[in-house]
Amino acid sequence: MHESLFLGPHGENAGFFRQIWGELLHRTLEHRAGTFPGDGSLAISAPVGEQIRLVEREIENFFTILQQEVPTFSNRYLGHMISDVSIPALIGNAAVLFCNPNLASKEVASAGLQLEMQAINELAKMIGLDPTAARGHFTSGGTVANFEAFWRARFRLDHWLSMGAWLLEKGHSDKAVFELAHQGWGSFYRNCERFGVDIAELAERSYVVQGPWDIASYYRDTLQRDFPQPVILVPGNKHYSWPKSANIFGISEKAIWPTELDRYGRVSITSLRRNIEQARQQQRPIMMSVSVAGTTELGTVDAVDAACDLLDDYRRQENIDIWHHVDAAYGGYFCATFRGGSSLLPQRAIDAFRALARADSVTLDPHKLGFVPYACGAFLVRDAQSYAVSRISAPYLVEDRKVDHPSWSTTFEGSRSATGAGAVWLSSRVLPLDASGHGAILNQTLAVTQRLADKLRRSFDNIYFTPGRDTNIVCFTLAQPGSSLRETNASIGAIIDKFTDSPHFAISRTALGVKSYAALVDEVVGQWQGVVDDDHLLVIRMVVMSPYLGDPVATDALLDEFIGELRLFAGQA
Ligand SMILES: Cc1ncc(COP(=O)(O)O)c(C=O)c1O
Repeated sequence: MHESLFLGPHGENAGFFRQIWGELLHRTLEHRAGTFPGDGSLAISAPVGEQIRLVEREIENFFTILQQEVPTFSNRYLGHMISDVSIPALIGNAAVLFCNPNLASKEVASAGLQLEMQAINELAKMIGLDPTAARGHFTSGGTVANFEAFWRARFRLDHWLSMGAWLLEKGHSDKAVFELAHQGWGSFYRNCERFGVDIAELAERSYVVQGPWDIASYYRDTLQRDFPQPVILVPGNKHYSWPKSANIFGISEKAIWPTELDRYGRVSITSLRRNIEQARQQQRPIMMSVSVAGTTELGTVDAVDAACDLLDDYRRQENIDIWHHVDAAYGGYFCATFRGGSSLLPQRAIDAFRALARADSVTLDPHKLGFVPYACGAFLVRDAQSYAVSRISAPYLVEDRKVDHPSWSTTFEGSRSATGAGAVWLSSRVLPLDASGHGAILNQTLAVTQRLADKLRRSFDNIYFTPGRDTNIVCFTLAQPGSSLRETNASIGAIIDKFTDSPHFAISRTALGVKSYAALVDEVVGQWQGVVDDDHLLVIRMVVMSPYLGDPVATDALLDEFIGELRLFAGQA
């Protein structure tokens, strides 16, 4: 049913698409003609002869290149986290392009910012936040949304740590630095009031304002101790944006303390607790703890609910407030599957997704399972306090601090396109972010993923899946009993290479590092009584997110064809 809102892998809905596209052009031109109509028409010269031929020729050249692009709109594309985009998302995106607002400032995006706030509200509702209190904005993707979280978590920690330094210096506290660094806004404001602390005095003790070199000297000379270098607790299943963040924000890559994974590749809550205790013991403040809801490699969902429970216990019982970010770049849209309907997700994944609303901040990527064109990520927090970040001034831009919308001074990026806002706005109205709209598409992808896994299991005696599949990503290898991991990796690598050379299907691969995925690799290799003699387990990775897999007969035929090709490449035809 929802397929009618997509163009179709062969342009099946071209009639509807042409009609809407025509409407878009009509309204765009009408709007332009109606703006300052009293000015009359200028004598703008129309393109002529040679100019027209040049444009036509270059358009042809352009399409010759563009048509070589990977056909990710096809349901034969089962590789990375990319698929076709919906018609409303495409139209919302394109309509915005024609007026080209810049979300950096209301001065050049009065309508764009309205669209952004309303679209962010829809996303907030989808993940269970109170849209009247939630704050957020669109980013160019999940990477930058993760940077936004890092930036805000650092802002908060820096305030609390600066207050702690001031209290220690003035002899108003004898608490441990770790506790002061996690004191919470309530305690921070009480201390401000009680001791009349001025924000400028805190700035003198701030590592963000003074920089690590000067602040290290201040700690050594004035407080007679080392600067307590913060750490971030990030699971081994992390996206590469986290090492990037540490590198960019200058907390050192060594300050990433990996939280171990369990045998399913999900974060281990025992390891999270151990890391927190180790940080406390070493007096290293925790800038943030990260959970992943839909990992890049396996699509697994960390027990966000259990992580929230643990962090709530620290907050309530010990006044230790640790920023919790959930990277739901891939998985966040699965929340739509259980809003107003029943989800095909396993219950533990539903419980984890429901806990997104309890985190301090969340990353979403509409340009993945939102079927929205690039570049569209989103960063969300539950209230204005969590949204606070250093404000940077620019003399040529108007900033109304009383108006509560994102602006250049509070977003990581400067100029920001409103195309993502337009796409999410329109698509969430036509394909609601609940079980009747987006949720139905994602439930379908979950059902097809299950069918694919079942067919694979029935077709190969020697297939080994990664355990605990939570969403619509399937990962597996083919191994001979007793074979070593190195041999198995070599043979699955050769099969993957054959798929790369074949035009019929696109799949992807991932190398699950033994260091991060120790328990999972042991379990999988143990199933064929193999030896772990390599530093990774190489698997075929298939992301099943095409919206065009609704027809069971056609889908079964496609999956059978894929299995036939896999048999051929594996020498089992
Ligand atoms: C879990 C996760 N986080 C963050 C990102 C980064 O998103 P983007 O590529 O949109 O920057 C990805 C991308 O695959 C991801 O899977």
